[in-house]
Amino acid sequence: MSKTGVNVKIVLASSIDGKIADANGVWRPLCPHDEERFYQAMRWADAIIVGWRTLVHSGLDFSVEGKKITKALVDPRGEINTNHKFFDSNVNNIVVFGYSRLYPQEKMLELRKKNVNVIMSDKYPIEPEFMLSVLANDYGSRNVLVAGGGTTAWYFLEKLTDVELQITVAPVVLGDSPYHNIRAPSLSHPGLRLRLTSVRLCECGQEIVCTYRKHF
Ligand SMILES: NC(=O)c1ccc[n+]([C@@H]2O[C@H](COP(=O)([O-])OP(=O)(O)OC[C@H]3O[C@@H](n4cnc5c(N)ncnc54)[C@H](OP(=O)(O)O)[C@@H]3O)[C@@H](O)[C@H]2O)c1
Repeated sequence: MSKTGVNVKIVLASSIDGKIADANGVWRPLCPHDEERFYQAMRWADAIIVGWRTLVHSGLDFSVEGKKITKALVDPRGEINTNHKFFDSNVNNIVVFGYSRLYPQEKMLELRKKNVNVIMSDKYPIEPEFMLSVLANDYGSRNVLVAGGGTTAWYFLEKLTDVELQITVAPVVLGDSPYHNIRAPSLSHPGLRLRLTSVRLCECGQEIVCTYRKHF
């Protein structure tokens, strides 16, 4: 649980060599059970947070059928086009976290016309606790899913004292790709240590579902 009293889960699927997409940014679940794990996490959540680079590559709009959720996009410089389907829903609450010094004013106005709540942070990187406090106080969120990518995941892992990380390891090697499962700056050995709380073989018999917790 974060300081704001929100439960936070990060859910990712990764290759053996720690990549969440190939060099072109492409990742599709390799097994239907992993896809279902992702949707299960979506159903658990009342809010999801996603980094803008994930929207560019994933093709998803991060809505959950039959459920109203709050969808939050971290887009400090306003990279995502206002016509993106992420902003289309008239069912969900939609929030964008931008950086006040770099977020284009016109884009903010355009999105507000679409009922998107564009919230500016004066800090870069945007503090995870700041985002969680907005989701908790303005939208009543209790369960927040961080759906990637690896850069967004790192900020939450770094800053929160209590967070769960679920990584499904698929039996593939993707090689030289910039899309790491956790994209952290260089850390000295032994790095950031997490506690393994569960591990199991996926129903497909080929993927391993690992759950870790950072809790001090
Ligand atoms: N396999 C999987 O489970 C999975 C899941 C999700 C995504 N993906 C793949 O992952 C790739 C994208 O991952 P990624 O790590 O490159 O990108 P990402 O996490 O989707 O987005 C990263 C960008 O979001 C902004 N950002 C995130 N948190 C921030 C913070 N706290 N403060 C300020 N800015 C913040 C930064 O933008 P600026 O650089 O503009 O400052 C950062 O570069 C895509 O190819 C997608 O398909 C795979």
